[in-house]
Amino acid sequence: MHTIGPNLWAIDARTGKPIESFGDGGKIDLHKGLPEVAKDKFIISNTPGTIFEDLIVMPVRLSEGADAAPGDIRAFNVITGELAWTFHTIPYPGEFGYETFPKDAYLNNYTGAANNWAGMAVDRKRGILYVPTGSAGYDFYGGNRKGQNLFANCLLALDARTGKRIWHFQTTHHDIWDRDLPAPPNLITVEHNGKKIDAVAQVSKQGYVFLFDRVTGKPLFPIKEVPVPQNALRGEVPWKTQPIPTKPAPYARQKDTDISPYAENREELLAKLKTYRRQLYAPPSTEGTVILPGFDGGAEWGGAAADPHKGILYVNANEMAWIQTMKETPNDAALSGLPLGEKTYMNYCVACHGPDRKGNTASGYPSLVDIGQKRSKLYVNAMINNGKGMMPGFNFISKEEKQALVQFLFDEEKKEVASTSSNRTVTSNRIKLPFQMTGYNKFLDSKGLPAITPPWGTLSAIDLNTGEYLWKIPFGHEPALLEKGIKNTGSENYGGPVVTASGLLFIAASKDGMFRVFDKNNGKLLWETKLPAAAFATPATYEINGKQFVVVACGGTKLGTPKGNKYVAFALP
Ligand code: HEC
Repeated sequence: MHTIGPNLWAIDARTGKPIESFGDGGKIDLHKGLPEVAKDKFIISNTPGTIFEDLIVMPVRLSEGADAAPGDIRAFNVITGELAWTFHTIPYPGEFGYETFPKDAYLNNYTGAANNWAGMAVDRKRGILYVPTGSAGYDFYGGNRKGQNLFANCLLALDARTGKRIWHFQTTHHDIWDRDLPAPPNLITVEHNGKKIDAVAQVSKQGYVFLFDRVTGKPLFPIKEVPVPQNALRGEVPWKTQPIPTKPAPYARQKDTDISPYAENREELLAKLKTYRRQLYAPPSTEGTVILPGFDGGAEWGGAAADPHKGILYVNANEMAWIQTMKETPNDAALSGLPLGEKTYMNYCVACHGPDRKGNTASGYPSLVDIGQKRSKLYVNAMINNGKGMMPGFNFISKEEKQALVQFLFDEEKKEVASTSSNRTVTSNRIKLPFQMTGYNKFLDSKGLPAITPPWGTLSAIDLNTGEYLWKIPFGHEPALLEKGIKNTGSENYGGPVVTASGLLFIAASKDGMFRVFDKNNGKLLWETKLPAAAFATPATYEINGKQFVVVACGGTKLGTPKGNKYVAFALP
């Protein structure tokens, strides 16, 4: 079962050919089973589905904006491609949680997402599927989706055969910080008060591990509802409290401590920092709110590894501060002085590629300056329609706007003001929220390195029997500092660990491009080697004829590291 764009394909593993009897000639469109409102909306999947009996349950990636399709969880029959069941993550009238969104949110055109994109876990013996979900769209302003917003940002326990809800826990209420649950949960057995308990552990971007009895959903360490700051943007109503586990302590820093000792513009950074909001769960603001751990966690999509019988969780994390800055959405009058292409750019592209089109390469958003020298119009059109990697598609933009947008990007647009009829096409069909985020910006020093004190990446082993740490180490080196002989600053990392019964932990993930083997009992580095490209992926391990291997995919477009496209496999001695 393999995805390309919006399609899920069934491929014959022996021949590579589509299996014609599945869906429509071998594929189904992942819009299948969604309501009419999702028809033209962006849907792809970059995450493997979860198989249970003859069902596959599919993670999907949607827009992060108000134009997101609803993130209903759907299971398909693996033989026929037929829809088997649907769970509405934005509830319908009469369903549990309906009143946690404004009336009729499920059918309007501006409340979507609450999707699973991180993948899931299944307890095969009990037939329970564990589904972590992301925030509702728009990620950063919820004035149009007032309420607690169930089942966004939830760990859902569903009956794997029917999709019926067994229990749920919401890890961020009314999310306005993009605190999606970023990784599949880990199924693990722990001992609490002398009793063995089958548990499910969920890591988060915030740095918390949420641990539950797998059957009842009861938290195994108490989780407190703690009051959080309420000074919000116009029209926004933040939720009054957020859930904070009493144990384990967070595995990533949540409060900025000091400026990095390697920063050359310390005073400037300190002064800047003072202008920001810095409390945990401080609402988005126009002056800037520090998001620590950053928009990509804390934990991210590589997920955690678990020693399922000993009850130990291994999690790598980022400790990067990002700055969430909001601004008033320019109204049509403010944009009306612009030609259509530029105006379209300001409406849909500016948040990631910036007002000057320079992007933010440190955060993975490429510059579009002089794009015409690098890419064809065909290519750019395809990007706009289909998206790629972290970029959503914008297929819904009208033909006229798209044409003008491409002209603008290729610096061919005349400076003529958009006609009134074009103004209508821009806003038709789309709700304009009063605020938008100005970009995915990290808090960096004058040389582009993280501006807060290291470590910037960590690896932790947490004993979920006791809630205490077995060990915690800075993970990786920052390449620019390593050149000067400065080691162990920890580096940003994407991609999880794998642990073995024999006591090893394998991990790539770090920006420095290394593949490392640690002793899982004490965090001691046993072996490391340089990969052909940094591997932002979780390794897989397998055995053939009694010999064990570990393989990792090298490459990806994160963190500005050189690109690559190799699988590298190692044999264990
Ligand atoms: C949510 C953030 C986001 C938004 C909004 C966004 N992009 Fe992107 N864009 C990206 C990212 C991330 C990439 C890099 C994708 C990759 O290569 O994996 C990218 C890549 C591109 C590229 C390819 C650049 C190259 O050098 O090959 C083009 C062209 C582009 N975007 C155009 C647009 C246009 C036009 C819009 C508005 C309609 C837009 N983008 C909106 C995030 C975004």
